[in-house]
Amino acid sequence: MRSLRAVRRNYIYDLPHAAFLKEEFDLGKDLSQEIGRRRTFAIISHPDAGKTTLTEKFLLYGGAINLAGSVKGKATARHAVSDWMEIEKERGISVTSSVLQFEYDNYCINILDTPGHQDFSEDTYRTLMAADSAVMVIDASKGVEAQTRKLFKVCGMRGIPIFTFINKLDREANDTFDLLDEIEKELGIATCPINWPIGCGKNFKGVYDRKTANVITYEDTQKGTKEGETTVIPLSDEANAVSYIGDELYEKLTGEIELLDGASAEYDLDAIRAGKLTPVFFGSALTNFGVEIFLKYFLEMTTTPLPRKSDIGIIDPVENDFSAFVFKIQANMNKAHRDRIAFMRICSGKFDASAEVRHVQGDKVLRLSQPQQIMASERKVVDEAYAGDIIGVFDPGIFSIGDTVCMPKEKFAYEGIPTFAPEHFARVRQVDTMKRKQFVKGITQIAQEGAIQVFQEFKTGMEEIIVGVVGVLQFDVLKFRLENEYNVEIRLEPLPYEHIRWIENPDIDLDRLTGTSDMKKVKDMKGNPLLLFVNAWSVGMTVERNAGLVLSEFGRN
Ligand code: G4P
Repeated sequence: MRSLRAVRRNYIYDLPHAAFLKEEFDLGKDLSQEIGRRRTFAIISHPDAGKTTLTEKFLLYGGAINLAGSVKGKATARHAVSDWMEIEKERGISVTSSVLQFEYDNYCINILDTPGHQDFSEDTYRTLMAADSAVMVIDASKGVEAQTRKLFKVCGMRGIPIFTFINKLDREANDTFDLLDEIEKELGIATCPINWPIGCGKNFKGVYDRKTANVITYEDTQKGTKEGETTVIPLSDEANAVSYIGDELYEKLTGEIELLDGASAEYDLDAIRAGKLTPVFFGSALTNFGVEIFLKYFLEMTTTPLPRKSDIGIIDPVENDFSAFVFKIQANMNKAHRDRIAFMRICSGKFDASAEVRHVQGDKVLRLSQPQQIMASERKVVDEAYAGDIIGVFDPGIFSIGDTVCMPKEKFAYEGIPTFAPEHFARVRQVDTMKRKQFVKGITQIAQEGAIQVFQEFKTGMEEIIVGVVGVLQFDVLKFRLENEYNVEIRLEPLPYEHIRWIENPDIDLDRLTGTSDMKKVKDMKGNPLLLFVNAWSVGMTVERNAGLVLSEFGRN
C-alpha cells in the first residue's frame, strides 16, 4: 500500500492527477485513497450572482441529476435540491445550509450551500467552518457585492483557498481588468486569471485558456444540455481563431493577454492553497459555458480534507482515527417530535455507524443515531463515511455547535467555532410575564442551537434581554418558535445597533471605559462583556479614547 505521504505528494505536486486517481481507486477502497479523493467546499456569492445555477451544473456534470431539457430540467433540479428544506419552509423556519455529495471523475465532492437573501444567518458563516475551500461566484455586471464581502471575510479568517468564478458573461459585463482590480482592492486578495473572456453579452465568443494557450469557443446552443458545441483552437493558429472570434476580438485578446502576462500575479499553487491568491475563471453558468473547465481546474487545485487544530495539537485526516465536529444544529425537523439534527464535519478517519464514539463535551460514549447523508436529491442513512464528508445525526438535545466527537479511547476538542457578529438587534418583551420560566428556557435553548444570540444589560440579569441576529428572518423564527414550541408570546422592539464588538482584553475596567453616546455595554450568556454601536465611526472613536482596548468582530465559544 502506498504511504499516506506518497499519496499526498501525488495530490499536491503531480497535477493533473485525474489519471492517477482512476488507476488507484479501481484497486479497492483504502482509507487514504477514500479521503484523498474528497473535496469539500462551500459556494459563496451575493444573491442572484448564480450560485444555485452553478451548483446545479456541477451536479449535472457529476451525473447526480438528469436534464431532459433546459427549462424542465432546471425546474426539476431546483426542486430536487431544495426538497430537504421544504419541511422547514412550510413551517416558517428559515432555510438553512444544505450539503450535497456527488461523484465526478473519481472525486467525491461535498458541496456546502450557503443560504443567501433573507435566509442569511449565522449558519451561513458556520458552514464555512466545515469547508476546506470556497468558490466565490461574482456577477460580471455587478462585481463584488455586500454579501460576498462578508462571506469572504470569514473565509479569509480561516485562510482557506478561494476560487473565483465570474459568471453571466453571456450578458453585458464590466471590463475584465476592472473586475480583477475590484476583487484585489475590495477583498484584499491577489488574483490570477486562469482563463480570460473573449467579448461578452451578444458578442461573447468564449474564453482563452492561459495554461494551454487555446481559445475555447462558445456557441449559444448550450442551454441546459451537458455537452455544448465548443471548438478548441490554439491562439497561434491566427486564421482559424479569427474565423471564430473575428479580427477585432482577436486583436483585443492578444493585447490583453500581453498586458496580463506582464501585470497579473504569477500562478502559485502554494499561495492559492494558503488563501493568498485567488484563481479567476470566467463563464456562464446558465448556458453551461466554462463550468466544466472550471470544475476540472478547481478539483486539481483545491485541497484534500485539511488537518485541523485541536487542544492536543493538529489532527491529521488520514493518520488519526475517526473524529468530527458539530457545525450546525437544525431544530425540530419533524413537528411531531422535538428532534434536532446535528450536522458534523468528519475531520479524520472513517466513520462506522455501528461503532461507539465519544462526545467529548458531554463526556459520554454513545452511538450516533440515524446518521444521514444528503445525496443531491435525497437523504439516505449511511453506514460509513470518511474525513471530508458531512453527516447529519439525530440529536436528542445533547450537542452544541462546535462540539467534538472522537473514538472512545480518545479525548480531545477541536477549536471552537467563533461567534459571528450579529447585525440586527431587538429588545425582547414578554407579553404574558407569568410565563417567565418557559420564556427563559425557550430563549436559552434556541440560543444554544445557535439561531440567535442573547445579550443582557451589563449590570442586570435576565430582566432585560436583547437578541442579536445575523439575518433579520431569524427574528421571525424566534417569535414563531417561542409561540409554537414554548407557548410564549413575545414582542420585539428593534434597536438601532448595527455593530457589535467583543472585548479581547478582559483586564479592561468596564466601568471606566468611555465610549461614544450611542455605545451600549452588554454581556453575553457566558458573562463576556461586549459593546454595541450604532455606526462604525463610534467603534473607531471608542478604540481611540481607551488606550489598550482591543475589540474583535468574532467571539470565541
Ligand atoms: P443565486 O443562487 O446566486 O441567488 O442565483 P441563481 O442561480 O438563482 O441565479 C439568479 C438568476 O440569474 C436566475 O435568473 C438565473 O437563471 C440567472 N443566471 C444564473 N447564471 C446565469 C448566467 O450565466 N447567465 C445569465 N444570463 N443568467 C444567469 P432568474 O430569472 O432570477 O431565475 P430563473 O427564472 O431563471 O430560475
